[in-house]
Amino acid sequence: MSAGRTLLVTGATGRLGGATVRALAVRGDRLLLTGRNTARLDQLAAEVNSQANEGSYPPGTQVRTLTVDATEPEGAQHAAAEAVRGFGPLDGLVHLVGSFSVGPVMLTDVSAYEDVLRANFLSAVVATQAVLPHLGEGGRLVYFGTPLSDQPLAAMSSYAASKAALVAWMRSAAHEVKKRGIHANAISLTLVETPEMRAEMPQVDPDLTVDAELVGHAVRFLTGPDSEGMYGSVVPVVGKFGFTSALAGGPPPGVRGTAGAGAGAGRPGR
Ligand SMILES: NC(=O)c1ccc[n+]([C@@H]2O[C@H](COP(=O)([O-])OP(=O)(O)OC[C@H]3O[C@@H](n4cnc5c(N)ncnc54)[C@H](OP(=O)(O)O)[C@@H]3O)[C@@H](O)[C@H]2O)c1
Repeated sequence: MSAGRTLLVTGATGRLGGATVRALAVRGDRLLLTGRNTARLDQLAAEVNSQANEGSYPPGTQVRTLTVDATEPEGAQHAAAEAVRGFGPLDGLVHLVGSFSVGPVMLTDVSAYEDVLRANFLSAVVATQAVLPHLGEGGRLVYFGTPLSDQPLAAMSSYAASKAALVAWMRSAAHEVKKRGIHANAISLTLVETPEMRAEMPQVDPDLTVDAELVGHAVRFLTGPDSEGMYGSVVPVVGKFGFTSALAGGPPPGVRGTAGAGAGAGRPGR
């Protein structure tokens, strides 16, 4: 395991936050978590810091929190400055901020498109602009996308378009920042499996979801030295999910089971 890194984790209060923070703590990272939910931030910090004190994580592992809206430039700049003030030089950004939206085109107000674009795309621009002045050689930027931006399904136009914008922007930005030795990459994931999601949606086929802990492992990889050769990549962490078509008429010879979703069956991956 490589040495601990210092990272700003924006939007840590969501469903992926806990697993991501635990995966980074395993490396001994120093993390500043942001979100608007102070109680959840406190819970995350207490969990990791107490386990670090008990020796479950490497020496130096530390979580701090800042209640702030990191989708606003002032909030994001404050968060980046706080991370540097609390821990010293910053190694990167893990931008978990995002939202989901569903609705047919003719029943979706333009303001709903604006909201999801702001949460999924513009928030990444804002957080990145805040962090980049603090990053040097070896810096890491990690974002989160979806297979639906390549294979959009009906009634998901706003969500798919916002994540497609995020990925196109990330690829362009990656070319700019790689000249400074900074790596920008994204993880593309399907519906995240957490205890909360399983309780809410017990009917969903586990083969269509991905374990939050596995996404955390990918975040650790993309923020660590083993991803040194990667600039502007989109890494799929989709478990056994795959798009299928009714035209296929069932699995091909020799392939058992009916795992898959999208045009053919079941609930689509997010
Ligand atoms: N969970 C999935 O199944 C899934 C699948 C594919 C992709 N992703 C993407 O992976 C990333 C993390 O997923 P997640 O499930 O952890 O996300 P999430 O629970 O929906 O939200 C993550 C964070 O986004 C913040 N946020 C949302 N809208 C915001 C807004 N308008 N202004 C400020 N903050 C806002 C929330 O902060 P507050 O606590 O302050 O509200 C929360 O901390 C997201 O980009 C998501 O789109 C998730």
